Amino acid sequence: MQANSSPMSAQVQIELAERSYPIVIGSKLLGAALTYQQLPKAACALVVSNTTVAPLYAAQLMQALQSHYGQVLLLTLPDGEAHKDWPTLQLIFDALLENGCDRKTVLFALGGGVVGDMTGFAAASYMRGVPFVQIPTTLLAQVDSSVGGKTAINHPQGKNMIGAFYQPLQVVCDLDVLQTLPDRELSAGLAEIIKYGPIADMAFFAWLESNLDALLAKEPAALAHAIRRSCEIKAWVVGQDERESGLRAILNFGHTFGHAIESGLGYGEWLHGEGVGCGMVMAAHLSQRLGLVDLAFVERLTQLVSRAGLPVKGPMLSATDNAGRYLELMRIDKKSEAGEIRFVVIDGPGQAAVRAAPDALVREVIDLCCA
Ligand code: NAD
Ligand code: GLY
Repeated sequence: MQANSSPMSAQVQIELAERSYPIVIGSKLLGAALTYQQLPKAACALVVSNTTVAPLYAAQLMQALQSHYGQVLLLTLPDGEAHKDWPTLQLIFDALLENGCDRKTVLFALGGGVVGDMTGFAAASYMRGVPFVQIPTTLLAQVDSSVGGKTAINHPQGKNMIGAFYQPLQVVCDLDVLQTLPDRELSAGLAEIIKYGPIADMAFFAWLESNLDALLAKEPAALAHAIRRSCEIKAWVVGQDERESGLRAILNFGHTFGHAIESGLGYGEWLHGEGVGCGMVMAAHLSQRLGLVDLAFVERLTQLVSRAGLPVKGPMLSATDNAGRYLELMRIDKKSEAGEIRFVVIDGPGQAAVRAAPDALVREVIDLCCA
């Protein structure tokens, strides 16, 4: 783990031997040619974005890339989680083939986690792998999805069920782009930031409690610190367990319940970060019922999640057997083993573990937490 100490610009390194790469964090990065000077030169670069982000930021990125690549192409995808699917992924392959893009072509993912996950998956599989760069434009993508090489699309039956581990060459977190982010999306990003406290760093959690208002007001220094600390923790985890054979699962705190909410309601109804926020509260209650944390910890986490503008009560997914529907959806989870759901629980504040839990206990938590 490495980072420099300037409050407003930082570099965090993901250490993965020959797949190592930097996450650069700062202001005025996206449109500066200097940002990209270490990348390999190629005949072609394809910027993949969406209908919301491309009009805001594609022109300045393409301008910055002009001197590095023979041609710089733009593909604009439809916006939204509901489009994180096969037909939209196919549009990326269509654009690459229609433009005669060879295996040295560099893909640039310009957008939130949806664009990043899909572009990464396309890069992993086009001609069996081409280089790609993550330029995350949501808070959530800057602190989580652009880092660590998980790429995927959704299946109607389950979140992120089809994908690959494939690392980018570089991640560029430009703080300035967050100024155009809607408040609801900012809150969604805060969920993934809050996550890092209970699983790894309660001092950071306390810092978030003190600085949440500054983050909600998009104060650049507060954002820079939160993004850097989140990326440091993620880099530390991914550096030890790139392919989630163990430790990396802790990054899914709140996700087992959250993914059930997302797929149960239909993708896009709740934002991913909203599912994670509420899912963390549910997972904290489960941890308390397993005797791992006290109610004061659950209350403290619930307060912060709520102050961040996130839901702390889960939606009803069935009028007849709500808990049963959650359990059914949660069994379709990449952490499940032989149909047994495995939850990320808090094993004392600042430390996470992965555990199975009796269905009866999980039902109690769902009944308590859903309205
Ligand atoms: P998103 O990509 O849907 O972006 C949220 C919305 O904000 C979109 O409408 C987008 O167009 C818009 N937007 C993006 N940047 C903007 C900007 N600067 N200004 C204005 N609008 C902007 O959602 P997300 O929250 O970024 O990502 C969620 C996705 O990330 C989910 O699919 C989730 O599964 C995935 N994810 C992946 C990982 C991973 O490790 N790969 C980790 C966490 C989440
Ligand atoms: N967002 C979970 C992970 O990257 O492992």
